[in-house]
Amino acid sequence: MNRQEIIKSCIEMGNTPFYLFDLDRFRERIQKIKSILGEKVSLCYAMKANPFLILPALEEVDRLEVCSPGEFSICKEHQIPMENIVLSGVYKEEKDVENVLRYGNGRGVYTVESLGQFQLLEREARKYNLCISVLLRLTSGNQFGMDEQMIRELIRERETFPHVKILGLQYYSGTQKKRKKVLEEEILRLDVLLKDLREQYDFHAEELEYGPGFYVSYFQKEEEEQVTEAMEDFRGLLEGMEFSGKITLEIGRYLAAECGVYVTRIVDVKENQGQRYGIADGGIHHLNYYGQTMAMKVPWYMQLDGETGEEKQEGKESPVTICGALCTVSDVLVKNLPLKGNILGDFLVFERAGAYSVTEGIYLFLSRDLPAICFNSREKGIELIRDIIPSSQLNMRRRNRK
Ligand SMILES: Cc1ncc(COP(=O)(O)O)c(C=O)c1O
Repeated sequence: MNRQEIIKSCIEMGNTPFYLFDLDRFRERIQKIKSILGEKVSLCYAMKANPFLILPALEEVDRLEVCSPGEFSICKEHQIPMENIVLSGVYKEEKDVENVLRYGNGRGVYTVESLGQFQLLEREARKYNLCISVLLRLTSGNQFGMDEQMIRELIRERETFPHVKILGLQYYSGTQKKRKKVLEEEILRLDVLLKDLREQYDFHAEELEYGPGFYVSYFQKEEEEQVTEAMEDFRGLLEGMEFSGKITLEIGRYLAAECGVYVTRIVDVKENQGQRYGIADGGIHHLNYYGQTMAMKVPWYMQLDGETGEEKQEGKESPVTICGALCTVSDVLVKNLPLKGNILGDFLVFERAGAYSVTEGIYLFLSRDLPAICFNSREKGIELIRDIIPSSQLNMRRRNRK
């Protein structure tokens, strides 16, 4: 089946709106990135981008970045070995750290975001007579991580924390980095700091875990990024480092975005004061393109005929503003989307929706349902992996039992 036939089959299952994630595409993209970056660089999938993809991700990457107790529960449910987890997150509670320590018996890697967290990890590890590996997160000038001074202090005093072994540094400053220069400056800053830690404190970091926040192009008029070129450039940057330890790249969007589509149906059509509107059964609570401003930019999309499920080729093209099903004027997916013919009942397939849409939506607003989720792969074909879930039960008070 080609891609369109797969989407058509999912539509026939009758569950719009839905997400469809193509696992082969996901794996192939990671393989391509790995082949360019080379064997020295290892990859860590930031599961916040799309937690449904953790199992296929682990067929290709070394680690998952796990950022909350909820994400950890998902990993536990799937019996992900602790060796494949880096436990991250700005807020780590005692009971959660304990839970993770017990699960992994001290294995895995923990990130440290503050002095308080460092002390908490030391305390908890001591309780179980373990020595755990940690990465100190360097801040990029916000609430995350610690500044250089604190990192230096912890490294200088490292002998006084026998239950915590500092492996190296973690750094992530943000997503959608379009300019190579920004990556270049960050890599240089990290390299200088690592060198300084070697020279001043005889601390030879074993590892640097770096989130590059690689850019994904979502909209039609934007310049398309070329994976090969971008990854070759980046490899060049890493090769220019003096640091010779292990480098792990923590990536979410760049791995997952491309493998997913979001499909919604146009369920009502109207013209108000000269503007054509199509009302879709989904909306902005399900689809989230970073950088979309006031629904002005046109993402990559397909219009499928409501009757046949085929891509619509015929019909006069005219601009339609596509709105969702929420009671807010901001629920506009795209303004003036060029659509063909009679659009009522047609399906809109929004591309590159594999990262963050599934996790960042304002799902509880209006108590609308959470979309269904399908996988497709050569091995298993189409699978419905999550049914539509009503959110109404989360938005009502519990009933008193008699
Ligand atoms: C610490 C950390 N690492 C990695 C990522 C993944 O970023 P991206 O999706 O831009 O690759 C995030 C995203 O928020 C993050 O907070």
